[in-house]
Amino acid sequence: MDLTKKYCVTSALPYANGALHLGHLAGAYLPADIYVRYLRGLGADVAFICGSDEHGAAITIRAKKEGISPQEIIDKYHALNKETFEQLGISFDYYHRTSAPLHHETAQAFFLKLIEKGGELEERVSEQYFDEEYQQFLADRYIMGECPNCGNPEAYGDQCERCGTTLSPTELKHPKSMLSGATPVLKETSHWYFRLDKHGDWLREWIKTGVLHGQQHHDPKAWKNHVVGQCLSWLDDGEGLQPRSITRDLDWGIPVPLPNAEGKVLYVWFDAPIGYISSTKQWASETGKNWEDYWKGNTDKLQLVHFIGKDNIVFHCIVFPAMLKAHGDYALPVNVPANQFLNFEGRKFSKSKGWGIEQHEYLEEFANFPNKEDALRWALIRNLPENRDADFKWDEFVDFYDKDLADKLGNFINRVITLTNSYYGGIAPASTATVPDNIKGLVDSLCADIEAYNLKAAATTLVEIASWGNQYLQDTAPWTIRKTDPDSPVIAECINTSLELVTLLSLLCEPFIPFTSVKIRQLLNLPKVQPGDLAAAIAKLKNGEALLPTGHKVNAPEILFAKINDRNDKSRLEIIERQKAKLEAVLKAEASTVQSPQSSVIPNPSSLMPLKDEIQYDDFAKMDIRTAVITAAERIPKADKLLKLSVDLGFEQRTVASGIAEHFTPEEVVGQRVLLLSNLAPRKIRGVESQGMILMAENAEGKLSFVQAGEAFGPGLTVK
Ligand code: MF3
Ligand code: ZN
Repeated sequence: MDLTKKYCVTSALPYANGALHLGHLAGAYLPADIYVRYLRGLGADVAFICGSDEHGAAITIRAKKEGISPQEIIDKYHALNKETFEQLGISFDYYHRTSAPLHHETAQAFFLKLIEKGGELEERVSEQYFDEEYQQFLADRYIMGECPNCGNPEAYGDQCERCGTTLSPTELKHPKSMLSGATPVLKETSHWYFRLDKHGDWLREWIKTGVLHGQQHHDPKAWKNHVVGQCLSWLDDGEGLQPRSITRDLDWGIPVPLPNAEGKVLYVWFDAPIGYISSTKQWASETGKNWEDYWKGNTDKLQLVHFIGKDNIVFHCIVFPAMLKAHGDYALPVNVPANQFLNFEGRKFSKSKGWGIEQHEYLEEFANFPNKEDALRWALIRNLPENRDADFKWDEFVDFYDKDLADKLGNFINRVITLTNSYYGGIAPASTATVPDNIKGLVDSLCADIEAYNLKAAATTLVEIASWGNQYLQDTAPWTIRKTDPDSPVIAECINTSLELVTLLSLLCEPFIPFTSVKIRQLLNLPKVQPGDLAAAIAKLKNGEALLPTGHKVNAPEILFAKINDRNDKSRLEIIERQKAKLEAVLKAEASTVQSPQSSVIPNPSSLMPLKDEIQYDDFAKMDIRTAVITAAERIPKADKLLKLSVDLGFEQRTVASGIAEHFTPEEVVGQRVLLLSNLAPRKIRGVESQGMILMAENAEGKLSFVQAGEAFGPGLTVK
């Protein structure tokens, strides 16, 4: 990490139209918070920026549904989301809102600068859908219809939430107004378009190679594969980039700052990312900083990093960078470590179906759960959807808490503080103990993982350090030595080494579980972790110096984490059971309304294999099966049964060696839609690294048939 640079770290501005659920937290907020807390520990100069996204149809449609004004909606949810983030320890430096006058001015000035530049914006007249009953143009979410890509009948005018495709209203089949429900008519209107089409070439080079203006801007290998993959598939999509309309006929939003533009506002996706800039400005003005230090200049001076969910990749990797570059003064992001989606107990979060839990709901439900904030943070961290979708499960919440936090981390710290108190009256004895070398290696790898946005791996290393400590105590067994040789220097050395480890853990755990860090520091009788403390500790490790001075007095022990699965106290388990019961009630209610379909094919029993042993749902849920398309196929030399296939998952390409060469020719399988077991560990087969397995049905004669989803189901969809 280059500490001479400024860091500007942003999390996607959430719409202030509702509460956020655990999937949001795991996607864009918790990972950013870990990264930022780590940077602060190193003493970096960092601005952690967020705020509410308060324009657009998401807000006005919600207001209409609830029969209140958009202003009431944004005031309510801005306050709720801001407060909930604070309670969960998401340590934004500033949480602004896009309805603020400063933001309106900033976005309007940005727009005018693009006009002034010439060639970046263009006014065009086009036909757009119009609701005659409501006398209103229907942009984006005001219109619904069938997705041309996946057939979802409820796709919005700007995006299909099922397959993730970005859409424009006129692409929808069977369009319907969200206002009146009627089929809209087309009517002429004029709008401003951003000439995104002019930016394709440099964007492609920048994303592929990291080169900008002939110079290395960032290391392209540091970007996640799924992020680069999604960008390139967008950039290379048939017609390439198209001009994008950045104004709308709406009465809610930032007025277009031009004469003769009444009734027109800036498109929400034009103004919202500029919200990062206005939020930084507001923060800077309140803290005496210069906001431009965090936005303007080159990557040798400043690092801009956007944390987002995968549905926002195109806006943050293509559209916003193009806007910034077109404007001229701004730095471009050095990384966009987008996360994939978090599901909840095997399904998508769905408020209407009662599936999932919102952040503030969690805090209410777990009000009496000790250290509920870190309990949640930890469960999410251990299961972050960093490179693929993940699934939150209450049983895993319990396991991660009991096994990692209680058995390993908490237990180790408790033993060390207890022994220090009972052997030495709480005073660290004299010894030359420092942090052992193998632990220094683990610290290095933990840091490297955070810097590479591998937060899940970094958290595992944290647990590993605590486990090592437990084992070390067990192996050294100072309690045994004490019986025969109470003055042995080994005892003091063991206690001091352990205290060094506890001190180190109090620093290393701070980005992940900050509330626990404060508690460990209290046990150690140290102030809470301050900016730069981690860097100072790492420097001491390098020099072989101790972290805690001899003679330092620690406090009395206190249990950090009481296990959830505790025979004598069921109170914590009951909270979990209550959550599971709610989900069972949802499933029951569904089962009683849906008739289970009868299978129409009755197979001939004699041709069938006997059933395999029973498995649990969890065994099945481990398999990530996706819809995919075979895009290329060739024979593998000297392997009669194998074809080497290129398989498109929509968001990435895979190579699969498949034993179907005796059944199909390469020509026959190209274009074939298939199902791919996509999280099977890669395996070398005849020199080909096979990254997944294609599902086939086999009949009694040994003939094979591809298994596939319906025609309207594009690649990358989950099969469950
Ligand atoms: N409000 C958008 C969403 O929730 C995210 C906006 S991110 C920003 O999907 F960059 F535009 F701010
Ligand atoms: Zn779709």
